[in-house]
Amino acid sequence: MNPCLWVLPLLIMVQSKRHHLSCGCEEVCDCWSKLQWVNCSGALLSQLPTGILPVTEHLDLSVNHLTSIDQGSFRSLRKLRVLILSDNNISSLADGTFTPLDSLQKLDLSRNSISWLSPGLWMGLGSLKELLLAENQLQDLNDRSFRHLDGLERLNLNANSIRSIQTRTFSGMTALRQLYLHHNRLTSLSSGLFSTLRSLEVLNLCNNHINSTEVGVFTPLPSLAELNLANNSLSSIHFKTFLSIHSYSTHIQLVNNPWYCDCDLQRVFRKLHSVHRLFLDDYHNLTCTKPNGTHSPVEVTDPELCAAETVTVLIITVTVVIAVVAAIVKAERNRRKSTGKHWSEDSELSYYSQS
Ligand SMILES: *[C@@H]1O[C@H](CO)[C@@H](O)[C@H](O)[C@H]1NC(C)=O
Ligand SMILES: *[C@@H]1O[C@H](CO)[C@@H](O)[C@H](O)[C@H]1NC(C)=O
Ligand SMILES: *[C@@H]1O[C@H](CO)[C@@H](O)[C@H](O)[C@H]1NC(C)=O
Ligand SMILES: *[C@@H]1O[C@H](CO)[C@@H](O)[C@H](O)[C@H]1NC(C)=O
Ligand SMILES: *[C@@H]1O[C@H](CO)[C@@H](O)[C@H](O)[C@H]1NC(C)=O
Ligand SMILES: *[C@@H]1O[C@H](CO)[C@@H](O)[C@H](O)[C@H]1NC(C)=O
Repeated sequence: MNPCLWVLPLLIMVQSKRHHLSCGCEEVCDCWSKLQWVNCSGALLSQLPTGILPVTEHLDLSVNHLTSIDQGSFRSLRKLRVLILSDNNISSLADGTFTPLDSLQKLDLSRNSISWLSPGLWMGLGSLKELLLAENQLQDLNDRSFRHLDGLERLNLNANSIRSIQTRTFSGMTALRQLYLHHNRLTSLSSGLFSTLRSLEVLNLCNNHINSTEVGVFTPLPSLAELNLANNSLSSIHFKTFLSIHSYSTHIQLVNNPWYCDCDLQRVFRKLHSVHRLFLDDYHNLTCTKPNGTHSPVEVTDPELCAAETVTVLIITVTVVIAVVAAIVKAERNRRKSTGKHWSEDSELSYYSQS
C-alpha cells in the first residue's frame, strides 16, 4: 500500500497546496508551492527519482538508500537552490556530479559514507554558500578537496575522521564565515592553514586531539569572533598564538585541555587577560592536569610554584641595578676627578702666570 495515497485526502483537507500525483515527480515525493518544492525524504529510494520538473528549486532526497550519484544526474534541474542528500549511504560521487547547478546555494551531504572528494566534484557550484559534510568518513584534506567553491560561506566538516589538512586546503575560500571541524582527529595546526580566511567569524575545533599549534596559525583572521579549542590535548600555548588574531573581539574556549600549569602558562594567561579584544570565556573552568596530576583550577595561582622564578628574577634585577649604579657612580667619580684635575691645572697655570 502506498502511504501517500492513503493520506492524500487528509492532506488535501489540511493543506490544499500539496499535490501528490499531478506534480510530475514520482508518487513517493511530495510537491507543493507551484511545484518548486519537492520532498522525497524517507521514500526508500535506492536511485534518484525520475520526472522531477525543471522548475524545482528545493529538492529533499534525505533519508533514503542512495549509495552513489552519477555525473550530470541533476543536469535538467538548473533552477535548484537547495539540494538535501543527507542520511543516505553515499560513498561515491563522480566529478561533475553537480554540474551545472549554478544556482545551488545549499548542498547537504551530512551523514553519508563519503571518504574522498574528487578534484572535479564541486565543478559548476559557483553560487554555493553552504556545504554540509558532517558525519562522513573524510580523513585527509588537501588543496584539491574544495576546488571551485570560492563563494562558500559555511562549511561543516563536523564528525568525520579528519587527521590532516594541507596548508592550502581552504585558500580559495575568502568568503568563508563559518568553519566547523569539531569531532575530528586533528593533532596539530600548522601556520598558514587559515591565513586567507579574511571573513572567518566562527572556527570550531573542539573535540579533536590537538596538542600543538604553530604560533602563526590564527594570523591574521581579522573577523574571527569565536574560536573553540575545548576538549583537545593542549598543555601549553604561546601568548602570540592568540595575540596575533587581529579581530575586533574574539571569544575563545579552552576548557577540557590537559594544561601544564607552570609559570609560563600562568604568565601567558595573565597576559592574555590584559588584552582587551580577547575573551577567555571559560577561564574560570580551566583546570591543570600537570604538574601535580590534580585538577586544580588554572586561575588559582600556587604562590610557591613561581617563587623560585620570582627569586631568580629578583636577583637578576638587583644585580643589574647594582651594576648600573656602580657604573654611574664610577663614571661620575671619573668625571669629577678629571674636571678637578683640570681645575687644579688651571689654577696652577694662573698661579704661575700671576707670579
Ligand atoms: C519531507 O517529508 C518527510 C517525510 O515524509 C517529512 O518528515 C518532512 O517533514 C518533510 N519536509 C518538509 C520540509 O516538509
Ligand atoms: C553502506 O554501503 C556500504 C557499501 O558501500 C555497505 O557496506 C554498508 O552496509 C551500507 N550501510 C548501510 C547502513 O546501508
Ligand atoms: C602530539 O600528538 C602526536 C600524535 O599523537 C604525537 O606524535 C606528538 O608527539 C605529540 N606532540 C606533543 C608535543 O605532545
Ligand atoms: C567535551 O567532552 C565531554 C566528554 O567527552 C563532553 O561531555 C563535552 O560536551 C565536550 N565539550 C564540548 C565543548 O564539546
Ligand atoms: C563552568 O562550569 C560550571 C559548572 O561545571 C558551569 O555551570 C559553567 O557554565 C561553566 N562556565 C563556563 C564559562 O563554561
Ligand atoms: C603539588 O605538589 C606539591 C608536592 O607534592 C605540593 O607542595 C603543592 O602544593 C602541589 N600543588 C598544587 C597546585 O596542588
